[in-house]
Amino acid sequence: MASHNGSSASSGFQPVFKSFATDAIHVGSEPEQWNSMAVVPPISLSTTFKQHGPGQHAGFEYSRSGNPTRNCLEKAVAALDGAQYCECITNTKLFNIIYKCYCHKPKALIFLTGLALASGLAATLTITHLFKAGDGILCMNDVYGGTNRYFRKIAAEVGLDVSFADLTKLDELKTALKPNTKMVWIETPTNPTMKVVDIQGCSDVVHEHNKDTIVVVDNTFMSAYFQRPLALGADVCMYSATKYMNGHSDVVMGLMSLNREDLYERLKFLQNALGAVPSPFDCYLCNRGLKTLHLRMKQHFKNGLAAAQFLEADPRVERVIFPGLPSHPQHELTKRQCTGCPGMITFYIKGKLEHASTFLSNLKLFALAESLGGYESLAEHPAIMTHASVPENERKKLGISDTLIRLSVGLEDVEDIIADIDQALGAAHPKK
Ligand SMILES: Cc1ncc(COP(=O)(O)O)c(C=O)c1O
Repeated sequence: MASHNGSSASSGFQPVFKSFATDAIHVGSEPEQWNSMAVVPPISLSTTFKQHGPGQHAGFEYSRSGNPTRNCLEKAVAALDGAQYCECITNTKLFNIIYKCYCHKPKALIFLTGLALASGLAATLTITHLFKAGDGILCMNDVYGGTNRYFRKIAAEVGLDVSFADLTKLDELKTALKPNTKMVWIETPTNPTMKVVDIQGCSDVVHEHNKDTIVVVDNTFMSAYFQRPLALGADVCMYSATKYMNGHSDVVMGLMSLNREDLYERLKFLQNALGAVPSPFDCYLCNRGLKTLHLRMKQHFKNGLAAAQFLEADPRVERVIFPGLPSHPQHELTKRQCTGCPGMITFYIKGKLEHASTFLSNLKLFALAESLGGYESLAEHPAIMTHASVPENERKKLGISDTLIRLSVGLEDVEDIIADIDQALGAAHPKK
């Protein structure tokens, strides 16, 4: 069993994925693909590519439809997600190079490839463009506020039949599936209340209902290092790569990977036809971020677990929600489907809105800011910040109350992280 820090609370998770670090560092970045043999993929800024004769090109025509730097990243994400969809190498020269120089496993004979988009939401809308008015979308009721807003205010407005359900309950999923349901959207753990959805269980129910209904998992919180939705029956694994996948809070991007060739072809078409593609520079940065994903996530887990344990033992805190703690209602499920947990902690501070505000305003190491998953610690107030677009009555039902605080625990020294939380709790609840 994998244990990321040797403590008993972090043991019992699934073993880490085989060759993850090796794939993160090498797949898509093979020097042999460049005439220069550059070890670090170059940033290919050219928007267009010279053709030998009309239609005779070396794999690239126009940078929206395909870009060499973006290609490197798209291959890397597919490998890290354990994607089964493979694009065969048709270029014989490249085939021979890869065969000779890069075959630490037989898969090296073929290219796995995902898709990169301009943001996480650009990935969401690109996927949603697979459907037409009248088609049904069933979404987990507790998702990132922007996803909720997009489905309710945009997709529903153009005639898609959007509904929400608590997908942690398979019975509720069964009841909510309709004859027109074409897509089921899962986010796990959910943002911000950290509910964990059984990906395999949901995928089985959905595919039994209709094998063509696609299951999409927003894997932003877990990242490819802790969770592989495609191996658990999902059809599409998507990310706001703005978060852990890039990990340095300097790129806005979406990524997705797939198991099915037909879906890949349709989404590749939409990537080009809708045009929400990331810049080569951002692709370079995100690919660089992936090289250290395994190291970063291990440390996020250690720091997150220590901070969650500190909060759970603190009398100024009402309740802590961290799937890595045995107190989390779906801790056993988390251990069954994940290799660990990221540094995302949600907790309810004792008191009212003013206590939450005082806590957040007094943090010194944590920045009070939206977003998550970077090397630096961030804190936010979901009801006022990231989830303000979710209707108030929905927020209440989901538990997004005035005392709910979300932490993205970063990679600083854990003693400093805990000391900062401690002093901010002290400011919110001064000793009498
Ligand atoms: C879980 C989740 N999914 C999707 C998104 C949207 O991603 P982006 O901000 O990259 O468009 C976010 C953004 O915070 C998120 O947290």
